[in-house]
Amino acid sequence: MDIHTSADTSADAHDLRHHGDAEVRDEKLIDLAVNVRTNTPPAWLRERIADSLTGLAAYPDGRAARAAVAERHGLPARRVLLTAGAAEAFVLLARALPARRPVVVHPQFTEPEAALRDAGHEVERVLLREEDGFRLDPATVPEDADLVVIGNPTNPTSVLHPAAAIASLARPGRTLVVDEAFMDAVPGERESLASRTDVPGLVVLRSLTKTWGLAGLRIGYVLAEPETVAALERVQPLWPVSTPALVAAEACMSPMALLEAEEAAHRIGVERAHLLAGLAEFDEVRAVAAAEGPFVLVRIEGADAVRDRLRSLGFAARRGDTFPGLGRDWLRLAVRDRVTTNRFLQALDQALLMLG
Ligand SMILES: Cc1ncc(COP(=O)(O)O)c(C=O)c1O
Repeated sequence: MDIHTSADTSADAHDLRHHGDAEVRDEKLIDLAVNVRTNTPPAWLRERIADSLTGLAAYPDGRAARAAVAERHGLPARRVLLTAGAAEAFVLLARALPARRPVVVHPQFTEPEAALRDAGHEVERVLLREEDGFRLDPATVPEDADLVVIGNPTNPTSVLHPAAAIASLARPGRTLVVDEAFMDAVPGERESLASRTDVPGLVVLRSLTKTWGLAGLRIGYVLAEPETVAALERVQPLWPVSTPALVAAEACMSPMALLEAEEAAHRIGVERAHLLAGLAEFDEVRAVAAAEGPFVLVRIEGADAVRDRLRSLGFAARRGDTFPGLGRDWLRLAVRDRVTTNRFLQALDQALLMLG
């Protein structure tokens, strides 16, 4: 495989700050653009959060939530840092780590690169290729990269890289950041590195906003070596995670919650297979079939026009052209229940006919 890196320091070719929520903000559309699980947060979680409101007069105390996260992953609490969503962690990493040659493996969520640039870093890109199924070839990462960022499963490709392939990127003197924001949507969380303590420089980011519908609450966490956790904590503001978010984090670590997430992950697998089978009926559509996340990436010639048609038919799909390594022929679709997917497939049929 060729090595595809680019030291494109002008991020302007792609709007790195475009996110799926912008596609549904101002119009009432059926949302396949945002990857938050539908019908969330569940009632039991809403109740736990609501109950926490009586304690709002006190400053947040993160100890119980931190201990619960640590226990869930079989780690000591000093390897855990709670954050206001995984998004905060990207900013902390960019500000706290003195990287000389940061590399981001694309296509992936663009916020890590945007945060690194905002912190003054020059960012290099490794572009995984469609021809290779967007799979990671560890040899494509420059040997002297001292900060490497990769998503698993990757947004937007939905590819789940083998844990061993990612772990093989670890080097002395390198920080290896693995964004596992969607790992809890993968049955068994296979290929997760969250509990590993034998991979030097490993930093795993987790989000509780997608599976649990807490995007508006902002809660996630970092799992890393204690020195890295301490360095990130030093650049964090005081009380970065609110009491309701801490209560939610603790609740989402319970065995009952983990079981619910696991069942949801299995259901997503069935619903994704239904979506992929429907998409396969269209000659014009090519999906990245190795999808393991709660979304799929599709290639359609003129996808930007298809997306506009879909909007006029009441459906929001995530544009693909803001992701480095993709372009205007790509769309990302969230996995939804069978009824919504069937309606979407009909709309897609219509959209493609209209564009004929
Ligand atoms: C791959 C990926 N990582 C991280 C995030 C940020 O998640 P959070 O809501 O926890 O900040 C997102 C949000 O869209 C994402 O897609």
